[in-house]
Amino acid sequence: MTMIRTRIKSIAHYVPEHVVTNHDLTKYMDTSDEWIRERTGIEERRYAHKHKETTTTMAARAAEKAIQQAGISKEDIDFIIFATLSPDYYFPGCGVLLQRELGITNTEVGALDIRNQCSGFVYGLSVADKFIQTGTYKNILLVGSEKHSMGLDFRTEGRGVTVIFGDGAGACILQPTEEEGRGVLTTHLHSDGTNAEELAMINPGSHGGYHLDDVDFGYPDSNDPGGIFVTQKMVDDHMLGPNMTGQLVFKTAVTKFPAVIQEALDATGYQSSDIDMLIPHQANLRISAFVQKKLGLRDDQVYNNIQKYGNTTAASIPIAMSEAHEEGKIKDGDLVCIAAFGSGFTWGSALIRW
Ligand code: COA
Repeated sequence: MTMIRTRIKSIAHYVPEHVVTNHDLTKYMDTSDEWIRERTGIEERRYAHKHKETTTTMAARAAEKAIQQAGISKEDIDFIIFATLSPDYYFPGCGVLLQRELGITNTEVGALDIRNQCSGFVYGLSVADKFIQTGTYKNILLVGSEKHSMGLDFRTEGRGVTVIFGDGAGACILQPTEEEGRGVLTTHLHSDGTNAEELAMINPGSHGGYHLDDVDFGYPDSNDPGGIFVTQKMVDDHMLGPNMTGQLVFKTAVTKFPAVIQEALDATGYQSSDIDMLIPHQANLRISAFVQKKLGLRDDQVYNNIQKYGNTTAASIPIAMSEAHEEGKIKDGDLVCIAAFGSGFTWGSALIRW
């Protein structure tokens, strides 16, 4: 019996026009180009237009290109998977907003929102792969998109997080293929919630202080019915942004990345030397360099573009994959590995025969 696998039929990206250099950030916070380059490799990032661009509109621009490149019409899409940590609304998720933005009126289409932060694209690919293998869907639109610039703290207090993140979107069309040996060969997903708050944006939320009673969120001590989503203290004390214990994230990432890549290689019987292109989630150039060294990969086997875009979370892998493909660095028949690690913590990998 012929095996059905998932093929990345097309891949595209969109980044906003507005370039923000490290030097630009020094106008708002005590930081320097040298510090940011040395610790992260980042030279500049893009920020979306404050009012005219959203996580969904950027996703739509990337999706339109992917749909065109796949040679299909938007009406052929039968499922949408949207990965983001910076959605337009708390709810509903961006999946239905993207459906509307693209003008897809077919209500047979399902829209799934993925909340796995930096691992979102790998999680989304893994879910899509199962739907395609079982014959459920034939044209899945998978996107990762982020508008981080709306939620960053531009004071010096926020510099440890703010300098790292940027905006952008990547999208792909996934289709079934029966071509021998082609497509997604394996996917691997992991999670460990022990350190959930170490890379997180916890406010606003329904936590009410649970697990966090050493922090004063300004909850009134009363028996009034209902919980409180956001308090004045959270606003006044700048508690509505992301926080990160950078060194813990760094140390955990450099062990999980190589391990989950090795897991994908072991599952398929390949060696790291067989990888034509590794596209790591663009978290930090030093993390990618560490992973490259650990796996013994040459420079031409690893693609990095964090220098230009910063960390774009769920969008980083599809943006990098799209650029690598455009530059001819991923070709038909290549063995492509993607891997991610991030908030949760969650991590994952996939091996794809292009
Ligand atoms: N500019 C200048 N100085 C900064 C700064 C910035 N943007 N951010 C932090 N600093 C300062 C700190 O205040 C600290 O100063 P102090 O020694 O006077 O207290 C000093 O630099 C060192 O801070 P530290 O947080 O220990 O730096 P680090 O070497 O761990 O580098 C990261 C910070 C964030 C670059 C690093 O931990 C990292 O890359 N972690 C992984 C992050 C990541 O990948 N996140 C995404 C996961 S998907």
